[in-house]
Amino acid sequence: MTPTASGKTGYHILKIDMAIEEIGSNKFSSDNSTQPPKNHTRRRRYSGTHPRKFEQKYKEHNISAYPEIKEHLLAKGKTPAGSHIPVLKEEVMECLKPESGQIVVDCTIGYGGHASEFIKHIGPNGKLIALDVDNAELERTRQRLSKENVPVSFHHSNFAGIAKVLKKETIDVCDIIFADLGVSSMQIDNPERGMSYKNEGPLDMRMDERLKQTAGDLLNSLSEEKLSKAFLELGDEPDHKEIAHLIVTKRRAEPITKTTQLVDLIFEAKGINKKIWRQQRRSSKSVSLHPAALVFQALRILVNDELGCLKELLRIAPYCLNPGGRIGIISFHSGEDRIVKKAFREGVRNGIYQRAAEEPIVPQREEINSNPRSASAKFRWAVRKDIEPRNDHDA
Ligand SMILES: C[S@@+](CC[C@H](N)C(=O)[O-])C[C@H]1O[C@@H](n2cnc3c(N)ncnc32)[C@H](O)[C@@H]1O
Repeated sequence: MTPTASGKTGYHILKIDMAIEEIGSNKFSSDNSTQPPKNHTRRRRYSGTHPRKFEQKYKEHNISAYPEIKEHLLAKGKTPAGSHIPVLKEEVMECLKPESGQIVVDCTIGYGGHASEFIKHIGPNGKLIALDVDNAELERTRQRLSKENVPVSFHHSNFAGIAKVLKKETIDVCDIIFADLGVSSMQIDNPERGMSYKNEGPLDMRMDERLKQTAGDLLNSLSEEKLSKAFLELGDEPDHKEIAHLIVTKRRAEPITKTTQLVDLIFEAKGINKKIWRQQRRSSKSVSLHPAALVFQALRILVNDELGCLKELLRIAPYCLNPGGRIGIISFHSGEDRIVKKAFREGVRNGIYQRAAEEPIVPQREEINSNPRSASAKFRWAVRKDIEPRNDHDA
């Protein structure tokens, strides 16, 4: 595993294949009619009265048959399974000012929450270009948005490859570039993605299935020093040394492949008893961070090279924007926000942007109550500089 060119960060350079692939090109086999029908087995019903795990929640699996469950969950500040509540939606529209006929690039289409709002403003004469690294979600969102009366094109692409996407669309510049960083609720809630410390699942964490290395691969191969550095720099984890040491010790006996294994290990490294921690959490009014949260965050950022991709987007974005065009980024942790702030400030200083948000826009208490996942969101925007007035001496 090679350190980055600066040598300052611990995250590795992943070989993200930015070749733009048409969605679903090889995904579906042509004919399944010769295969015998599979025996349908009913999902085992939960026999208790207080389901805690997603598999046990009967109605959540079938929201359309139980529409009241959606309202009920939203009222309780929960995100209905399989969906995502867009964060700072009104503020984003207010600052990016989408108008009829404009070209908008949504770099992180996800569930399409922000995109649906952009579509309302740009209308049938506009165009939405949608990117996402998660092909499965991209396909689901394509189905949902295809009913809209606005041209939308979908690209299974990392936003670091935005210039290639525009080239493919034969568009030089667009009016708005928007990115809502991090993971969607669908990704975090799906135990198979291995992104959450709450559910047992494989330690995968890849947002893009084309990436070669999973979180498990990294945990079982990186040196103690590199793991420790990643936990510190990408997660601000105070016990980074102890956790890295225990990982390297434990993996000698058995590879670490499951989320639950890693969670147990983190508790052990921190010397915390799980039962006591749960009791303390229940009795404490303030929401305390789960002991595994920071390590999971750091690993996910590492696996997906999230900071490297963000830096590349910010480097290339001004050249993809019309004069007067706008860019907006929602970030969810301090490392990302620092990178966005620095890029926009430098852009203003260097004359690339005419102005940028002085302070990040954050959700109001009401939004946090109705969608607790929005709590750490920070939104920043910048406006591309107009074309220099033509010098009459050149005429
Ligand atoms: C927070 S969700 C976006 C939600 C969306 N704004 C909505 O309202 O539904 C983030 C999405 O960005 C995608 N993503 C993360 N990093 C990406 C990258 N470098 N390039 C493209 N998509 C990315 C994830 O797969 C995920 O679907």
